[in-house]
Amino acid sequence: MILEAKNIKKRYGSASAGYLEVLKGVTVSFTEGEVVAVVGQSGAGKSTLVHMLGLLDRPTEGEVLFGGNDVTRYSDEQISKVRNTSIGFVFQFHHLLPEFTALENILMPSYIAGNSGPAFTEKAQSLLSDVGLADRASHRPAELSGGEQQRIAVARSLMNDPKIVFADEPSGNLDSDNADRLHDLLFSLREKHRRTFVIVTHNKELAARADRIITLQNGLIVA
Ligand SMILES: Nc1ncnc2c1ncn2[C@@H]1O[C@H](COP(=O)(O)OP(=O)(O)OP(=O)(O)O)[C@@H](O)[C@H]1O
Ligand SMILES: [Mg+2]
Repeated sequence: MILEAKNIKKRYGSASAGYLEVLKGVTVSFTEGEVVAVVGQSGAGKSTLVHMLGLLDRPTEGEVLFGGNDVTRYSDEQISKVRNTSIGFVFQFHHLLPEFTALENILMPSYIAGNSGPAFTEKAQSLLSDVGLADRASHRPAELSGGEQQRIAVARSLMNDPKIVFADEPSGNLDSDNADRLHDLLFSLREKHRRTFVIVTHNKELAARADRIITLQNGLIVA
């Protein structure tokens, strides 16, 4: 088991403004090499769940176990370290850094982890090839199409060899051809690297291709 959440709850707000309970007790686990789709209506709590599972934020209650360790007991610094070295993210908007080239953007997670040098550059080059953009290494994000930018974001998410990659509506901003191409890419990367992907999506075709679908409704997983 790579990652497990046990009865997690998330409440936003304050005593004065009132509370909103977004996750109401979610238990879920992920194993190596699976592609899991997370679906549900807008506002159901999908992004909130990804934030808790991806260690971007802490649940109000419950445990998140990464490799069997309860990370909700970790300090912020320890949590950041696990997140930076073991978890990858792809968001709806690519969040590439405009001043840097495609290759440099892919290298960014390794720079942040304190790693640089020829071996890392080579690895970023190979990820660039994996996403079909080997010839665009020195291009800046503004010189790439939306679909290409998103494929660079996928390559970047894999740079530190994460155990699990969270993608929150990765194709939400793409036309259907580019969305299909991005989905094909995610499945081929799963084959190649045996990586676990958790993908929030409103795309029915993508959800149908996943090994497993998790449906969130009103802060709870429904069958
Ligand atoms: N930081 C926050 N503070 C207060 N409320 C929040 C916060 N983040 C999310 N919410 C609320 O929590 C609920 C769930 O939001 P969330 O973003 O998880 O939904 P979602 O399922 O990802 O929806 P969508 O499909 O539109 O992206 C919404 O009602 C939202 O307004
Ligand atoms: Mg969302």
